Amino acid sequence: MQKIIFASNNRHKLSEITKLAEGLPVEIVSLKEIGWTSEIPEDYDTFEQNALQKAITIFQHTGLSCFSDDSGLEVEALNGLPGVHSARFYLSKYPDVPPQDRDRYNNLLLLEMLQHSTNRNARFRTVICYVEDGHPHYFEGVVRGTIAYEPAGSNGFGYDPLFIPEGYQITFAQMSSEQKNMLSHRARAMEKFVQYLKNKIR
Ligand code: IMP
Repeated sequence: MQKIIFASNNRHKLSEITKLAEGLPVEIVSLKEIGWTSEIPEDYDTFEQNALQKAITIFQHTGLSCFSDDSGLEVEALNGLPGVHSARFYLSKYPDVPPQDRDRYNNLLLLEMLQHSTNRNARFRTVICYVEDGHPHYFEGVVRGTIAYEPAGSNGFGYDPLFIPEGYQITFAQMSSEQKNMLSHRARAMEKFVQYLKNKIR
């Protein structure tokens, strides 16, 4: 069975991709399982570069095929911000907020920056980079929607309480994880990646 490393320790992402890849003769292993403990910097300007950086670092270390993902929220009225800065967006205005409050302050800052904007269009985007024999392949997943005027819902994480996906009246945080996973940017990118693996293996 072919071993593929997922350059992440996020349990939710690992279980999502493992479910999608069921039935394929591949074993997906996390960084923890290969004993990798150091941080890999994600300080580039694009999701593609960040995902490549992580995947190539692990490929060079192990010689095994490896993939990684990078995601974020892109808001039209903010010219694509917070984008690659999604996780630490709040630091630009609230540098003293502790990391456990980061989601709340990220959402607060986003609402503040959009307070005079009627253009609420946004999208979540994920890029997966799969490095195989040293060559990168990219898979993108996008979900479009709008930014609500106030947070709603308590499921999910990050900007979920503010993001209303196209065709719905509720935020991601008001959906069950199953419902969100059917539409999410990450699921869409992962489905494309799994389809690529299926076509290769067939
Ligand atoms: P990551 O690259 O998947 O770790 O995502 C980086 C940041 O983007 C997260 O810390 C969140 O702030 C935001 N983000 C990415 N995906 C989602 C999502 O599905 N819902 C809410 N926020 C997200």
